[in-house]
Amino acid sequence: MQHELVEKNIGLMALLMILAVSIGGLVQIVPLFFQGVTNTPVEGMKPRSALEVEGRDIYIREGCVGCHSQMIRPFRAETERYGHYSVAGESVWDHPFLWGSKRTGPDLARVGGRYSDDWHRAHLYNPRNVVPESKMPAYPWLVENRLDGQHTAAKLEALRTVGVPYTDDDIAGAKAAVKGKTEMDALVAFLQGLGTSIKNKR
Ligand code: HEC
Repeated sequence: MQHELVEKNIGLMALLMILAVSIGGLVQIVPLFFQGVTNTPVEGMKPRSALEVEGRDIYIREGCVGCHSQMIRPFRAETERYGHYSVAGESVWDHPFLWGSKRTGPDLARVGGRYSDDWHRAHLYNPRNVVPESKMPAYPWLVENRLDGQHTAAKLEALRTVGVPYTDDDIAGAKAAVKGKTEMDALVAFLQGLGTSIKNKR
């Protein structure tokens, strides 16, 4: 009898479906907020430096995430190519995370230390200089634009509010740490830090 009521009343059925799906979703999602493996930073991980934070914002501004993921999946083909698969503890201080979902270019989750700073500079200035067949766009303005550090301290402070353990000294020194550096310096610093808290296993 009750079942017939639900079958004949689409509004009621939709409501009950939403209820069932919500409970199912919550049961899966809520425990993740409390599990150590998903919310504890990996051992030895340090918060990004002020320069790396600025570099990360340039990465976001330039849309690098539209072509590059930062998420190595636990498959043989991926770990052979990129190194140890990504773990949740590496991303706990990333707000927002940059896992991405498009791989026109290679995954960058562990690109830190793979190339020299000079390689990155030449590559970002014009990828064809070092990879002749590259389809990646050139970013020559990064060597001209300089950081003034006006908002760097505020950025670190905002990150601290959401749990990144910056000290008062980090915040006080943030502006001086980036002032006068180029956007290229910042972006390369960010790239060189990627994935280094878990050693590259190649
Ligand atoms: C239109 C797509 C596209 C965009 C946007 C893009 N890339 Fe790339 N990227 C590629 C492709 C394709 C390659 C592989 C060829 C090469 O090395 O240039 C690559 C390679 C790379 C590599 C070398 C990775 C490796 O393991 O060899 C780095 C580092 C990189 N990109 C960084 C960036 C950064 C930083 C940005 C943003 C400023 C960016 N890319 C934007 C397509 C893109």
